[in-house]
Amino acid sequence: MNAPEDFSRRIEEAIRSPKNLGELEGADAVGTVGNADCGDMLRMWIKFKEEDGKRVIDRATFQTFGCETAIAVASVATELIAGKTAEEALAMGGSELSAPLGPLPPVKIHCAQLVEGALRSALSPEDSQQASNQSVAPTLLQQFQQQAPKKIVLEPSK
Ligand code: FES
Repeated sequence: MNAPEDFSRRIEEAIRSPKNLGELEGADAVGTVGNADCGDMLRMWIKFKEEDGKRVIDRATFQTFGCETAIAVASVATELIAGKTAEEALAMGGSELSAPLGPLPPVKIHCAQLVEGALRSALSPEDSQQASNQSVAPTLLQQFQQQAPKKIVLEPSK
């Protein structure tokens, strides 16, 4: 199997039953980002718990108006960051967050960066104001409607 076919298969497997999809009630942090180029948006919710005297991520969930790759990366990333501290999660870049899917083709790297951006938006102290403002729009759909992006491109299912 060649690399593009292998990539497509891994993405298909990941989105067949995406993990951690949907709003997370009682979340401690929320972050939303959009990509102006492709018009995709992704929101991530994070809930913490105390474990061995550390504050670690108990659960993370997401919603997206995004491509299949963004869904797949968010699915694996929300699993990867569970059990990590905010600092440990923030140290992860797009390639680490998407690692279970294997290397992404260059045209799909920004999809992983969308997930990384939502994570940073939720966890970075400088974005906390933004995150609390976003809680005014409790769902990604409401935020999406408020922002009225100029252009939305969704990839058709294959
Ligand atoms: Fe825009 Fe994947 S996030 S095409």
